[in-house]
This record gives sequence, structure tokens and C-alpha cells, in this order.
Amino acid sequence: MRGPLKTTHGAAPVALGLLIALYAVPGAQQPPAATPAPAAPAPAKPLVPVATNTVTAHPDAYYGLAVTINAAVEQILSKSAFSVDQRRVGAAADVKHDPTDVLVLVPTIQSPVELHAYVTVMGELVKFDPAEIARKAKDYKLDLPADVVAKYSGRPALLATSVINEKFVDLAKRLPPPLNAEEEAYQKVMRQVGPAFAALRPAVDGSNAETAGKNAAVLQKAFTDTEAFWKPKKAEPTLWAQNARKEVEAVQAAIAAGKWDEAKAHAATVGQACAQCHGAYRERFDDGSFRIKK
Ligand code: HEC
Repeated sequence: MRGPLKTTHGAAPVALGLLIALYAVPGAQQPPAATPAPAAPAPAKPLVPVATNTVTAHPDAYYGLAVTINAAVEQILSKSAFSVDQRRVGAAADVKHDPTDVLVLVPTIQSPVELHAYVTVMGELVKFDPAEIARKAKDYKLDLPADVVAKYSGRPALLATSVINEKFVDLAKRLPPPLNAEEEAYQKVMRQVGPAFAALRPAVDGSNAETAGKNAAVLQKAFTDTEAFWKPKKAEPTLWAQNARKEVEAVQAAIAAGKWDEAKAHAATVGQACAQCHGAYRERFDDGSFRIKK
């Protein structure tokens, strides 16, 4: 059993989970003007604590809301889905006919829940329909058997962003995998590319040959390394890195010739390469760190 010390330690992850759930729920409405959400792209409505039997009795009142449910895992349905119920913990024999259980879908599930263990699940309550889930969770592949889909269709389901277990671990939180030596070196290169490119643009705009030249040199070397990293692995990012290097070299030539309009145009094209490659090969984790998309 867990002592009070563990509970104290657990408070932070739970609070964090709440925060993540609050900001991660899409389609949220504006909160009152007095409570702006700091540093969040879109303010979220507050989490509504609900009971499973309330939700199943009046689902229409909760669809589209960010809710939190504390209940026992009643049935494990797939790798990313389970049902919760507060009414009859562990009454497995009755499960099939139990109308008070709520389907929980966890697109970012990292480790499994335990049968009959208590969990706090947070996310948006939706009317279950595979097409609707596909729209709301773009990268998620629903992994339910057909009979389970049929059973829950048209019923309330929670599209969960957090699943806090009894050890206060959020099972839905995606943490970045450790870097190997090569990936670490790659990350160092990208961390040079960021500030160098940020400095290049205003230097070119201001016709500052010294600053522009210095940062272009950093980028030229960095994209040479980026290209070398990708070359044995994948053709597309190799080509994008190569193009970025060529554009940087064109910036360098334009600076040397004092052709600042040309330098500006080529610098802008370099910027497109960042977005192009990040869109396809960069992945952001819940803690804000980046990794190569596998
Ligand atoms: C050919 C692909 C590619 C190109 C081109 C590219 N990047 Fe990246 N970048 C990545 C990948 C993959 C990651 C994730 C790896 C990582 O961060 O460890 C990344 C990560 C980053 C990071 C985060 C580093 C960290 O982990 O803290 C920054 C900043 C960055 N890139 C800036 C840029 C800028 C600015 C440009 C354009 C001037 C650029 N990148 C061009 C592939 C690319």
C-alpha cells in the first residue's frame, strides 16, 4: 500500500495532468475574461468532474465538454481502450449488460491500465462513432474489435488525454525516448541551426555582412552535417538538407556580391526547408522536447 508520503509526491503529476488535460482538449470554449489561460494557445473550459452513471444517464449534457472521471477499470478492451464504471467494481459477469460503463479511448497510451484499478481519466466526452474519433484524433488508429465498436456506438466515450493511475503516474503522457550518440549529435546541430537562422534573417534584412556571413557559415556547416546524417537513412530529408545547404551557399554568394535582395530571397527559401523537414521528420513530445520522427 502507498503511504501518505507518496500521495504528497503524487500531487504534482496530478496537477500537471490536469493542466495538460485542460489545455489539450480541442474545441474548448472561452473561459470568463477574468481567468485567462497563461501561455496556452486556446483557453479551455474548466474540467467537469462527473460520475459514470450521470454521464450515461444524460450524455447529451456532457458531449463536447472536458470532463474528469475517477472510476475503476471495468474491462480492458484493447491496447488503447478500456471501460470504466463507478457502480459495480469488479462485477465482470454483468459487464456486457451494464449500461453505466463509459468507454475510454487513449490515443497516446504508454503503458496498460490494470483491471479493476482506480484511475482518473480526463479528456473530451464524445458520442462514440469511429468516424468522429478519426476526425478528433488524427494520428490515432482505433483498435477495437467490431463487436465492441457496435456495443459502444452512439454511447458516451471519453477521448482521454490523461490517465492517472493509483501511483499518480499519467499513463497517457508520452515521454521522449533516450537519444543515442548519433541522435544527440544531430540534436546539437539543430540547436545551432535554430539561433543561426534566427540571426541570419535580420542581418540580411539590415545588410549586415559580418553577422549575416558568420551565421550563414554556421548554417552551411550544419546542413552539411544534416545531409550526412540522413544520407544512409532516407532520401527525402537528405535532399531537403542538401537544398537548404545550397540555398545557404547562394545566400553566402549574394552577400559576397553585395546583392542583398537575392540574399533575402534565398534566406526565405532556407526557412521553407525547416518547415518542410520538421513537418515530416520531427516529433514533439508532451514535455516539449523534440525527437526524430520514426
Ligand atoms: C532535413 C531535415 C531538417 C531540416 C532541413 C531542418 N531540421 Fe530542424 N530538426 C529536424 C529534426 C528531425 C529535428 C528533431 C531532432 C531533435 O530535436 O533532436 C529537428 C529539431 C530542430 C530544433 C529543436 C532542437 C532541440 O531538440 O532542441 C530546432 C530549433 C530546429 N530543428 C531548427 C531548424 C531550423 C531553424 C531549420 C531551418 C533553418 C531546420 N531546423 C531545418 C530536421 C530538420
